[in-house]
Amino acid sequence: MKREFITNSPEETIAFAECLGKLLHAGDIIAYRGDLGAGKTTFTRGLALGLGLQDLVTSPTFMLVHVYGNPPLQLCHFDMYRIENTEELETTGFYDYLPEESIFAIEWSENIETALPDNTIWLTLEILGEEQRRIILELKSEAKGSERFANFRA
Ligand SMILES: Nc1ncnc2c1ncn2[C@@H]1O[C@H](COP(=O)(O)OP(=O)(O)OP(=O)(O)O)[C@@H](O)[C@H]1O
Ligand SMILES: [Mg+2]
Repeated sequence: MKREFITNSPEETIAFAECLGKLLHAGDIIAYRGDLGAGKTTFTRGLALGLGLQDLVTSPTFMLVHVYGNPPLQLCHFDMYRIENTEELETTGFYDYLPEESIFAIEWSENIETALPDNTIWLTLEILGEEQRRIILELKSEAKGSERFANFRA
């Protein structure tokens, strides 16, 4: 499944991500692709809202991971910018959070692509203009739960 959307402001991206966040379950992995400033952290802010988390989402660049909320549902927001291979992944805490109580949102997932499972939800952000972004949502149609997104409207 592959779907494309356009947003025309950060607020629109947040609103879009909030709608998507409402559909997410523990075990879901959002893997971002997109350049510096494309809107990955902004998008995650919306995801948190959709999950009912009130915390202000900030970039996890220096901490590698920020965790919002608590089990049974927490949002683990990773930044893999500095991670060069899957061995280094061990140091990020990636394997320490239980999928059955976590949703993962991963910036710079390009760097750890081979470590990501088949049910990964790929979220590409493309910069089209100063305030315009293309959002591409992709997942394997045979992935469990993919039907949730088939009629998704933000
Ligand atoms: N339509 C839009 N959607 C998202 N962000 C937008 C949009 N238009 C403008 N912006 C701006 O683009 C910037 C996106 O920054 P953000 O930190 O979310 O990017 P990022 O992809 O996480 O970057 P980095 O790779 O540096 O972590 C923000 O300043 C935001 O206000
Ligand atoms: Mg970021």
